[in-house]
Amino acid sequence: MSRVALAGKRNSHAVSVSRYARVMRDEPAGDANYDETPVDYAAIRRPEPRFAEAIRRALGDARSVINVGAGAGSYEPTDRVVTPVEPSAAMRAQRPAHLAPAVDAVAENLPFDDQTFDAAMATVTVHQWKDLDRGLGEVRRVTRGPVVIMTFDPLSLREFWLTTYAPEMMSHEHGRMPSILRIADQLGGDVHIGQLPIPSTCRDGFVEAFFSRPEALLDSRVRQAQSAWSLVSEAEQLASVGRLQAALGDGSWDEAFGHWRTAPEYPGSLRLIVSHPN
Ligand SMILES: C[S@@+](CC[C@H](N)C(=O)[O-])C[C@H]1O[C@@H](n2cnc3c(N)ncnc32)[C@H](O)[C@@H]1O
Repeated sequence: MSRVALAGKRNSHAVSVSRYARVMRDEPAGDANYDETPVDYAAIRRPEPRFAEAIRRALGDARSVINVGAGAGSYEPTDRVVTPVEPSAAMRAQRPAHLAPAVDAVAENLPFDDQTFDAAMATVTVHQWKDLDRGLGEVRRVTRGPVVIMTFDPLSLREFWLTTYAPEMMSHEHGRMPSILRIADQLGGDVHIGQLPIPSTCRDGFVEAFFSRPEALLDSRVRQAQSAWSLVSEAEQLASVGRLQAALGDGSWDEAFGHWRTAPEYPGSLRLIVSHPN
């Protein structure tokens, strides 16, 4: 197979990438289209240091890491040789200059040889993949050591208070999340599943990150960086926001959920799945 070197800026050990990495796509690689509407992802979805530390520990002493569904580069370690893979041009364009440029490819068809990387990571992306089992199989194939997946547990996610105000959007959100056990089974090996409690100051603006700051969800910039909102109609989105706004205005949100305003963290649905090959 013909191969070209991926000349990553900080990628001193250039990794060989199949020329088939450049795929022309008529539709988005995942269930949300980041290339359709401008999303200020890098500003709203900044890496949360507590989660970054958990990922760093899970990657162990790996020197080379593939980051699948890398987006704008959140959680990408800077002290290792990282090969990011990201199918959305808009996302690749938001990657900061100090990170390696991303390879345009999808999880389901990774253009690398077997066991190319010491470790793999995939953060808040697996729920968007069109063929989860194939994508996880590919990630396992190209990785010698740990595969680290940060994702949301659908069963816990449905308990979040936003379900009261945005039932349709939240139903899409937990409905698209694969079960944690399915991911663990598919990866195989020696699997550890850990919970990542969400701090009240969480910098990564996913839905539950605002458990104590409900007003933030009234901001359309924040919602645009949460892909589940793009899965409901504009009318439904406005109705949901209207219900939340009214509940904040008449005090009913505070009556029901106000105890979260002072809670330092929320148990939430975020999980870190780490699979080591046997
Ligand atoms: C919510 S963003 C997460 C980005 C980044 N990992 C982070 O933690 O901020 C999900 C990313 O997965 C990418 N994605 C969607 N489908 C994919 C697929 N089939 N293969 C690889 N990446 C995919 C999207 O383009 C998007 O950048």
